[in-house]
This record gives sequence, structure tokens and C-alpha cells, in this order.
Amino acid sequence: MDHFLYQADELYAEQCQVAELAKQHGTPLYIYSRATLERHWRAFDNAVSEHPHLICYAVKANSNIAVLNVLARLGSGFDIVSGGELSRVIEAGGDPTKVVFSGVGKTVSEMEMALNLGIYCFNVESAAELEQLNLVALRLGKVAPVSLRINPDVDAGTHPYISTGLKENKFGIAMEEAEAIFARANELPGLAVKGVDCHIGSQLTEIKPFLDAMDRMLALIDRLAEQGIEIKHFDVGGGLGVTYDDEQPPQPDVYAAALLERLGDRDLKLIFEPGRAIAANAGIFVTQVLYLKENSDKRFALVDGAMNDLIRPSLYSAWQKIVPVIERAGESHSYDVVGPVCETGDFLGKDRQLNVQEGDYLAVRSSGAYGFTMASNYNSRPRAAELMVDGDKAYVIREREKVAQLWQGEQILP
Ligand code: LLP
Repeated sequence: MDHFLYQADELYAEQCQVAELAKQHGTPLYIYSRATLERHWRAFDNAVSEHPHLICYAVKANSNIAVLNVLARLGSGFDIVSGGELSRVIEAGGDPTKVVFSGVGKTVSEMEMALNLGIYCFNVESAAELEQLNLVALRLGKVAPVSLRINPDVDAGTHPYISTGLKENKFGIAMEEAEAIFARANELPGLAVKGVDCHIGSQLTEIKPFLDAMDRMLALIDRLAEQGIEIKHFDVGGGLGVTYDDEQPPQPDVYAAALLERLGDRDLKLIFEPGRAIAANAGIFVTQVLYLKENSDKRFALVDGAMNDLIRPSLYSAWQKIVPVIERAGESHSYDVVGPVCETGDFLGKDRQLNVQEGDYLAVRSSGAYGFTMASNYNSRPRAAELMVDGDKAYVIREREKVAQLWQGEQILP
């Protein structure tokens, strides 16, 4: 459930009229709903409330500091993949002791920063990274809490670009090597083994791949216990899918119940790293129709938002619902909704039944995750403004980028 609903023929974000916000702040524009973010975060937290757990929101999905702050106020932890994301968490008032640090290529300075801030755990992805982290921790006179990200080799059944748990993917440590690398971690003086983690992919709409991964991971945890290596937490990663079209992914409570059942009476804290499931349907992307154009066999709605603002349709052929901000009565036609960027791949949606005129606003639903965070300045397009609504109030949480900011830091030769 989200808080973007029609009242009569007009789309609202909570109690704010989307068309008014677009008029006032211009387009293209991202609008997020605080109530929806909170509701989605709580759905995870409540789903495991009886069991020791930590919900670490995946910052990469939407890293605006207002979004992070709203979640931090609920007590959220954060899953980060860079020093930049860690800095955002701190800037937003997040608690570093609830941060897990994922990612295959952590640099020495990122490790130092995270150690100095006292993060909860490093999710280590290779033997080489483990050795490096040990040296950095020893140099700082610290002990780094570590989990090893194990690649369980299960097929998440999602788009190949967002599937991460197969042997052929660059992520994690192969299951066959896991025990040896855990043994090594256990003997390094700069490290303290805390947990295991996995993340098999994103936008999963079935429970089975999660359970397959969990079975393999729990078997590993049991084997490690036999070797005297005690695992205190199991980080199940993120990946729970959302409804973009007619997908029916399991709700967080059903998903968590299935995991808890598998866990049995093991004394393991559970960590979740949801990104999309919290943020995607808490945001819309609003764009205005500039021109309508027809050729022999196609109609195009040329809009002011483009692949640089929202790349998911172009990059993954992702389908996101496109709806009119104010519905018109009358006949609709099939349109390709395309942006001004000079690429054939620049589209937000294809073959959409719409009744639109020039000047109309359209909203691309489910744009709160991997929308703004993946935006670029391609074609020297300043990045969109971001708003957050809270009831009947709307706040600018990021100003529209100014053209002069585009060449900030660039230099002309003497
Ligand atoms: N944890 C780790 C280690 C991850 O790599 C990811 C996402 C997450 C958690 C959060 O996954 P989520 O709950 O959001 O599925 N840009 C793509 C998605 C890339 C996901 C990358 N990793 C998209 O727009 O579909």
C-alpha cells in the first residue's frame, strides 16, 4: 500500500495535489511520501519484531538525506557500499553502529573511515579484502567486525543485471571456499568474526530462491559451529520485489515468517537489507508532455523527463506504470513515452494507453528506488528536484540542479 491515490480524477501524494506541486516546483520532479516510507520500513520491522534483528535499509536505492533521516528516526540501520553512502548516513543523523558495509571493492580509506566510526559489520567479499581489512584495523589499533558474503549459487530468477547470487557473478565468496576463508578470518588478530551474509539479487517475486539460499547458508553456519567458529548473525541481504505491474511478491511478514521458520531455534540475529521494497513505491517521477508526435505507425509523447533522470526502463527494459496526473475523459491511444535525450534507448515506457495533450503531467509510478540515485547529467541535463510530502505539507529535499553546477570543478587550459 502506498499513499499516491486519486481523488476524483486527480492524483495526490498523501494530501498534496501532484499537479500543484509540479506547477510550483517544475518538472521533471521526484516526489516521495514520508508515510509510505515509514509504512514499508515498519512492515519489515514488525515482521521480525519477536526475533533479534536489525533492518539495514539499502542506501543505494534512495540516498537523499531526508529519506535516510526519516528512516533513522524510526531506528533503522543502513546497508552501505561506499564511503560516500556512509557520509550521507552520518549527515542524515544515522547511527554508525547500525551500519553494515557491503561491496566488492572497498578502498583503504573507506575501511579507515568505517572503522573510526565504529560500524556494526563489514560484509567482506573476498579473501584479498579480508587480508587488507586486517592490516588496516591493526594499523588503527582496532578490531574489525566481519561477516563473509557467501555466494550460495542460487538462481534468483530475476533480470541478469540484478541477479547476484550465481557462481558466475562477481559478488561474494564461493561456498566451496567459505570454510577455509572463515578459518583464516578467525585467526587474524585485526578481525572478529560476527556473521555470514548473502544477497542473491533484486526484485525477487518468489520466496523459494530466498529459502534455497538460506538452507545453504544455515548448513554452512552449522559446519562452522563444528569447527568452533561461532556465527552471531545472519544477514539475508535485500532483494524482496515490489509490484510494478501485476507482480505479486510476498509481503514482508510472509517472507520473514518463512525465513524464521527455516531458522528454527538457532540463536542467530537476523539482518535485512531491503532497498526497493521500502523506497520504490514511496516515490513517483513527474514529467510534463512537451510535444505529441505521430509518424506512420507510432504515436510519441515527448516528455521533459528522460533516461538521465530515470534509467531503469532503458537499462533493464524495466516496466513502470505511467499515469496521468489529471485524468481526461475520452479516447486513449497507444504512445511511446520518450525523453529529449539523443538515444533511441531513451524511453520511459512503450505502447502505453494514454489520453494526453501537450502540457499534461504524467507520473511514472514506483520511482522511489533506483530512480534519482541512478540519475546522470548526460546531455548536460541538470538533475531533477526532489520533494517529500508529509500529510498536507511538501518539502524541497533537493533543489533542482542548476546549469552552472554542471561544470563545477572543470577547468579551461591556460
Ligand atoms: N544488499 C546488497 C548487498 C545489494 O547489492 C543490494 C542491491 C541490496 C541489499 C538492496 O536490494 P533491494 O532490496 O533493493 O532489491 N538498480 C537496479 C537494482 C540493483 C540492486 C543492487 N543491489 C534496479 O533498478 O532494478
